[in-house]
Amino acid sequence: MSGIKDSLAPLLEPFKPLKQLAFLFTSSCNLRCVYCPQSLHPENHDASPWLIRHILDFVRDTGIQKVTLGFYGDTLCYKGWETYTTELLDMGVDLNLCSNFNHRLSENEILTLSRFKEIQYSIDTIDRDVFKAIRPPADIRTILHNLVLINSKAICNNTPKPKTIWNCTLTNKVTSGLEALVGSAIHLGVSRIVFNELVRFQEASGGVKSIFELEGTEFIEALEHLEKAQDLATDAGIEIKFSLQYWDKLVEIKKEMEREQTSGDSVTKLNRVNPLQAIQGTADFHAERTESNLLPNQTRMCPEPWSNIFISAEGDIFSCCVRGQSLGRITQNHGIGEILRNASYRDLRRQLLTGNVTDKSCKECPLLPAGDIEPFVQSIRQGYQTIPKG
Ligand SMILES: C[S@@+](CC[C@H](N)C(=O)[O-])C[C@H]1O[C@@H](n2cnc3c(N)ncnc32)[C@H](O)[C@@H]1O
Ligand code: SF4
Repeated sequence: MSGIKDSLAPLLEPFKPLKQLAFLFTSSCNLRCVYCPQSLHPENHDASPWLIRHILDFVRDTGIQKVTLGFYGDTLCYKGWETYTTELLDMGVDLNLCSNFNHRLSENEILTLSRFKEIQYSIDTIDRDVFKAIRPPADIRTILHNLVLINSKAICNNTPKPKTIWNCTLTNKVTSGLEALVGSAIHLGVSRIVFNELVRFQEASGGVKSIFELEGTEFIEALEHLEKAQDLATDAGIEIKFSLQYWDKLVEIKKEMEREQTSGDSVTKLNRVNPLQAIQGTADFHAERTESNLLPNQTRMCPEPWSNIFISAEGDIFSCCVRGQSLGRITQNHGIGEILRNASYRDLRRQLLTGNVTDKSCKECPLLPAGDIEPFVQSIRQGYQTIPKG
């Protein structure tokens, strides 16, 4: 590998085992959410039985402890998903699912889900009409009923309840209902709420706005609702997370811009970063420019190309949920293990280890901070040490 110090060469290998494998049973979906590029992909695809078998064998043979389902499409649309996931559960793997849950679930599906470690329900609001308008044709009552059935099944079987997480995509349509959303989350035993900043896919504008696109009193009121909702959640012990790691800073910048607006000397300090090629399409995010660019001696503090793997229903492998360039497609001749060690993967790891980051997605990634190279290399070295099971 050109230009890399000998001492770094072993660090071009993936962690063994990987910390997490994410895959899709299908890229099809039963909903057409206004902000999601799903509807723009008519070429929906189910994973082949051969591909699923290859993934399950890889998980078992390499001892992966955590499998995540559903970063795209909706897992519960795939007939027979519960047979495969039961196999993973019986291997002792921790399962995490993100779904819209707008499905009529069978007894066996409910039982299988009650054994999952974590379940992410995509719930932006508990207002029935607003919910249906944003995530047509979903009915919030079906989703909440499923949540109750799954947790009740775990209680009746005396097994641990799945950790319940709600994902709320923050748009102007839901801000006034945020306190009610948190109130319901408290009532239903939710452990964490993740607020997703609206990612703007060029192909899917959806008629909704990010909080950062609101002006004047509209912005101030939206922020007040969010802050009250956060206080309610924190008092009740619910963990709050934001998809953008520098969310608080963006809010401060936006507040300052609003103050300057009133004095007449406003300067735009908040931008959308140049569009990135994400897995689902071309997307842009809000960011402060200096946050997204790397300074000399800095790198993106991202362990994903070592620790995680994302596999589409077609068998394409991605390093994370942002970078949309396939690092290889799984075939009968090219398995996951081989792709994890190919030239493209090694080059991506080399870029992050040396700080010579030319990959546009890694350079401008809105999810992880920039940081000094040396501590990052140190953290990767430590990542090879596996934590013993049990
Ligand atoms: C793409 S979905 C896939 C899983 C499943 N279909 C669901 O909706 O939960 C994963 C998460 O991304 C969120 N999402 C979709 N489009 C988004 C966007 N443009 N900006 C931010 N989050 C988005 C969804 O609300 C959901 O919580
Ligand atoms: S956000 Fe999820 S449920 Fe909605 S259209 Fe996209 S994939 Fe389907």
